[in-house]
Amino acid sequence: MKDYALFIKETLDRYKGKYKHEPLKHLPVYNDQNILCAYLRPITEDYRITLPDCSDLLGKWRKENPGIATGTFQVTRERTEKWLDAHIIGRDDRILFLIVALDGQFLGHIGFSSFNYQEKACEVDAVLRGVKDIHPGLMGYAMNSLIFWGLYDLHLEKITLKVFADNTHAIQFYKRCGFQVVQLIPLVKVVLLNEEKWEISPQLQETVAERYYTEMIYKGIEVL
Ligand SMILES: CC(C)(COP(=O)(O)OP(=O)(O)OC[C@H]1O[C@@H](n2cnc3c(N)ncnc32)[C@H](O)[C@@H]1OP(=O)(O)O)[C@@H](O)C(=O)NCCC(=O)NCCS
Repeated sequence: MKDYALFIKETLDRYKGKYKHEPLKHLPVYNDQNILCAYLRPITEDYRITLPDCSDLLGKWRKENPGIATGTFQVTRERTEKWLDAHIIGRDDRILFLIVALDGQFLGHIGFSSFNYQEKACEVDAVLRGVKDIHPGLMGYAMNSLIFWGLYDLHLEKITLKVFADNTHAIQFYKRCGFQVVQLIPLVKVVLLNEEKWEISPQLQETVAERYYTEMIYKGIEVL
C-alpha cells in the first residue's frame, strides 16, 4: 500500500512538473476513428508562467457552471490560484488536466482525485466542458484518454465518480463513457459566512436528504 501511494505521488508529481529537467507530459486524446484530436495538458506547478491565463479561464468556467461545484462563493483569480496551489498542485492524490485542442485552444478540464491506495482506486474529478458546441464527442474522448492512463499507467483497479443526482446530462454522459450507477449518497447543506456548500453527512444515511450525489463506477464500454 505504501509502495503504491509513493508510486502515485511520484507519478503525479512528474506530471505536475515537480521534477525539474523532465519533459512536459501530455496525454493524447483520440476520437472514435482513432485519430488524434486533442491533448490532456496537466496543470503544472509553474502554471503562473507556462499557463498564465489558466486561473482566469478556470474562474470564468466555474462562474458559467455554478451548478457543478459543491460550494458557492465569490470566484476571484486569487481564490482560484489558492485553490490550485493547495488542492491540485499541493495534493499528492489529485491531478487536473486542461483539455487542449490541436490548435492550442483550451476547451475544458478533467482529472483524478481522492486515491484509495489500498484499493488502487480513485475518482474522476472536475469534468467540465468550458467551450460548448465545438468538437462534439470531445469530452467522451478525453474521458477515454484519462481512463486509459489510469488503468495502464497508474495501474488503477477501480475508478469511481460522484455527480449531483439531478445532473441528468452528466449522468447520461458518464453512462456513455462506461460508468454504472452504484448508489445515492445523501448530502447536507452547510451555510458559512461567505460560502454555501453541500457535504456528505453520515448521519443522513437513513433519512430523506434535500440533495444527493449519484456514485458511479467504471465498468468499461461493451464492444459489439
Ligand atoms: C458533463 C459534460 C462534461 C458532458 O460533455 P458533453 O459536451 O455533453 O460531452 P461530449 O463532448 O462527449 O458530447 C457532446 C455531444 O456530442 C455528441 N457526440 C458524441 N460523439 C459524437 C460524434 N462522434 N459525432 C457527433 N456528435 C457526437 C454527444 O452525444 C453529445 O450530444 P448531446 O449534448 O446531445 O448529449 C458537460 O455537459 C459539462 O461540462 N457539463 C457541465 C459540468 C458538469 O456538469 N460536469 C459534471 C460534474 S460531475
